[in-house]
Amino acid sequence: MKIYNIAVIAGDGIGPEVINEGIKVLKAASEIAREFEFEFTYFPWGCEYYLKHGKMMDEDGLEKLKEFDAIYLGAVGYPGVPDHISLWDLLLKIRKSFDQYINIRPIKRLKGAPCPLKEAKLEDVDMLFIRENSEGEYAGAGEWLFKGKPEEVVLQTSVFSRKGTERVIRYAYETARKLGKSLTSISKGNALNYSMVFWDQVFDEVGKEYPDVKTYSYLVDAASMYMIKQPERFEVVVTSNLFGDILTDLGAAIAGGLGLAAGANINPERTYPSMFEPIHGSAPDISGKGIANPLAAIWSASQMLDFFGYDHLGKSVLNAIEGVLSENETLTPDMGGTATTSEVGDRVVEILKSGK
Ligand code: NAD
Ligand code: IPM
Ligand code: MN
Repeated sequence: MKIYNIAVIAGDGIGPEVINEGIKVLKAASEIAREFEFEFTYFPWGCEYYLKHGKMMDEDGLEKLKEFDAIYLGAVGYPGVPDHISLWDLLLKIRKSFDQYINIRPIKRLKGAPCPLKEAKLEDVDMLFIRENSEGEYAGAGEWLFKGKPEEVVLQTSVFSRKGTERVIRYAYETARKLGKSLTSISKGNALNYSMVFWDQVFDEVGKEYPDVKTYSYLVDAASMYMIKQPERFEVVVTSNLFGDILTDLGAAIAGGLGLAAGANINPERTYPSMFEPIHGSAPDISGKGIANPLAAIWSASQMLDFFGYDHLGKSVLNAIEGVLSENETLTPDMGGTATTSEVGDRVVEILKSGK
């Protein structure tokens, strides 16, 4: 029997609560398939770990993680540890060190998902965001000069390498071609006169190799307006690290909420493990209450199944999520229900096992 070794970093706040449910679903999926099993290894890294040990993960943490087939992560960051420490020493460190340069975030409204856009039809919100995930505005480069002095200056440098820009844009063209969908690039070349002018140039250059893919190019400010007013404009979308971060929370809001938005951090070459995580954070305002919505984490689990080549199972998990939403009976408070996190997870498993 094929065994997939999964490193679990449940992390902070609601991270462990939602990851538990995702693991239930992954186990159920493997029981249905009967051709593979998951073995989960838990790493207690996160903010509590930091407060005890003075570090977010072990010194040889990356070495340990490297051996796994994938990483399943809840959320990182909690009041008490500065966010720039917790994130740079764990989540962003993994994304960067493992060259997970593709961040796939489906913004797809499932049947039964709430939507604040009154006029939007279900199929209008169906986008696939491909976010650059290794450099750009998140290069971590900069300088803090004359700290505390009147002449204080802080620099935060974006880095757009040819290699880094080309590879994500090429991946997006390939995806659009495979799906037979249009590709939209979102940038800001009018104001960011180096980075985004370069981005636009590379988008056009690479596009010459994909004459069959219909393309659009929007400035990020207008794009955020169109996402609300005319979400049907967007199919496959490629954008930079920071714009992708912001626009996918916006996208989550129109596709059912943060509790439903999933993401996969992919190293396409498979030199390193890829990492699957909901796009929401640790939600300190609701953590410990057992009411976090686990559907985003479960959707990320379905992306993991797709990644391992079990697309049919990934689809079944997505159908089960849609089933829970459509029944409108077992939903957490963020979706207007009264169910607990584990009740929602259990219901997904029931529907999945029923084969509906
Ligand atoms: P957040 O995503 O944690 O929460 C924003 C709002 O959405 C909150 O009101 C929260 O209750 C709600 N929410 C989020 N996920 C939910 C879910 N599954 N079910 C129901 N409601 C949900 O964002 P934040 O409050 O800005 O950040 C909190 C911490 O998480 C910060 O330390 C931040 O840096 C970190 N963070 C981590 C990740 C990650 O690890 N991938 C992502 C985003 C934020
Ligand atoms: C996300 C998060 C992270 C990001 C933070 C926590 C560093 O917001 O995954 O969307 O900005 O990428
Ligand atoms: Mn984010």
